[in-house]
Amino acid sequence: MKKKKIKFATPLISSKEKKEVLKVLDSGIYSQGKKCKQFEKNFKKFTNAKFASAVNSCTSGMHLFYFSLGIGKGDEVIVPAQTHTATAHAVELTGAKPIFVDCKLDDGNIDLSKIEEKINKRTKAICIVHFLGFPVEMDYLKKISKKYKIYLLEDCALSLGAKFKKIHTGLWGDAGVFSFYPTKQITSGEGGMIITNNKKIYKKMSLQKSLGVKQSFLERKIPGIYDTVDIGFNYRMSEIHASIGIEQLKKFRNFLKNRKKNFFYLKEKIEKLNNLKILYSQKKDSINAYYCMNILFLDKSLRQRNELILELEKNNIGVSVNYPQPVPRMKYYKKKYLYKKKQFLNAEAISDKSISIPLGPHLKTKDLNHIVNTLKKILT
Ligand SMILES: Cc1ncc(COP(=O)(O)O)c(C=O)c1O
Repeated sequence: MKKKKIKFATPLISSKEKKEVLKVLDSGIYSQGKKCKQFEKNFKKFTNAKFASAVNSCTSGMHLFYFSLGIGKGDEVIVPAQTHTATAHAVELTGAKPIFVDCKLDDGNIDLSKIEEKINKRTKAICIVHFLGFPVEMDYLKKISKKYKIYLLEDCALSLGAKFKKIHTGLWGDAGVFSFYPTKQITSGEGGMIITNNKKIYKKMSLQKSLGVKQSFLERKIPGIYDTVDIGFNYRMSEIHASIGIEQLKKFRNFLKNRKKNFFYLKEKIEKLNNLKILYSQKKDSINAYYCMNILFLDKSLRQRNELILELEKNNIGVSVNYPQPVPRMKYYKKKYLYKKKQFLNAEAISDKSISIPLGPHLKTKDLNHIVNTLKKILT
């Protein structure tokens, strides 16, 4: 019989999430209610953040961060070349210019040695991504951001649960933003969470995520009476999404335990195959979040890498590429900022010569073995 497809990622939703969603639907309160507040409270406790603010995506949370700080036209923000488009879009949307920096080949994280040379008087912020859930060395970046008096944002889309030197990712910078897109470590459907220890940043972002309206629905003393004190967006998370997020967060520790177990099970077996490299790093006193496993084939051409993906798919293994192009090579950015070949050698290598294989908690041992055996068959 045909083997069931092993998905690259899939949300693990049980009767708990379904029950809570139904409760919200029955309550008639779909926005600005108690569920978002509860999710924020639980998230604060989980990460040890002073403040948390739920938003409708990681992209909107990051855009809001720059917007609330007045970053815009004429400003520059340093971002990794090897990331999701969203990291750069959040900057681009403000009118500021993303300045791309290449990554390292060991774990795909931004190359810290190349950041300082990009800083000038237009630089207003640095945004880093904890690539695949491997935390970046934030103590170095904190020093740099202090030295040049620039903001530091952590794109934590892939790093829920990841800590650098015992501190949760997102808390080293001025803020961190998480994603609850369905492929992520936990999901709320769509959604994101901003965390920060800075009250001023939290207050401004919370106000502007909700149209600059001073009294949110729950805070109004007289129904229907409110004032608008600032410009803003509607970047709020709905109560329905928050109710899913609350239940997912409760399951997270178990999810992460399985992700880690699956990562090392696969790593031990796949590493034995020739001519490949698994992206990985383990920093002292730090915890990885193991989003997926990137396998790099430096001796393969782009065509051979793509054939490998198709072959794995034929064998019912869901594969992805994180990420399929360095952002500055994506059409929009390429045209606008005139990308030059070989400018981001390591990001290009990861985009053109790597595959991302699943390791989520949805995998059974037989799935892991199928992935290993199929790779073995194809590669030898
Ligand atoms: C590194 C990174 N940043 C940001 C995002 C965007 O997240 P969202 O879809 O929640 O806006 C993603 C999405 O996959 C991502 O991988």
